[in-house]
Amino acid sequence: MAPSCCNTQPWRMMVITADTLRAAVHDALAGDNAWAEPAPVYVLLATHPELGCRLDDGRDYALFDTGLAAENLMLQATAYGLVAHPLSGFRPCALKERLGIPEWYIVIALIAVAYPGEDSELSERDRAAERQARVRRPIDSVIWFDSWKAGDNAPPPAYREL
Ligand SMILES: Cc1cc2nc3c(=O)[nH]c(=O)nc-3n(C[C@H](O)[C@H](O)[C@H](O)COP(=O)(O)O)c2cc1C
Repeated sequence: MAPSCCNTQPWRMMVITADTLRAAVHDALAGDNAWAEPAPVYVLLATHPELGCRLDDGRDYALFDTGLAAENLMLQATAYGLVAHPLSGFRPCALKERLGIPEWYIVIALIAVAYPGEDSELSERDRAAERQARVRRPIDSVIWFDSWKAGDNAPPPAYREL
């Protein structure tokens, strides 16, 4: 029931449970994401700008809407006592090929879903990461009331005009 621009519902999800398909996910994992291999379920999220609202001034909503649906899924999983961890660290082309997903889709994320495991199942590095305090930017550095933050004029270093 996530909202989406003009109710286009541009998200597509593939729930991956079969061992052969889970193996394909494992092979496509990149970076330090081996921690995700014991997960019994992965939810693959795909979309394309043409599936969502594309406004004349250049604003595209498919990725935004897919993120909303992903968050709903993760909140619901958490309410069920599950852990739902989003991942961008995988090779999408390899995964699309192995899973038979049409090439034109953007596979934007995987969500690994599992019941909470034991600390002892983790590598030293992942255990340390897991024990770290969860932090976010100070609220007043991202939310401002009634006026844009004074001095926030400079674009990020790699800014490109859209
Ligand atoms: C789009 C997206 C991609 C992510 N990719 C990965 C990933 O590949 N590997 C990983 O361990 N965590 C990944 N994460 C989790 C973030 O690293 C994590 O949410 C962030 O560091 C804050 O940590 P916390 O949610 O535990 O507080 C991802 C989160 C999002 C929303």
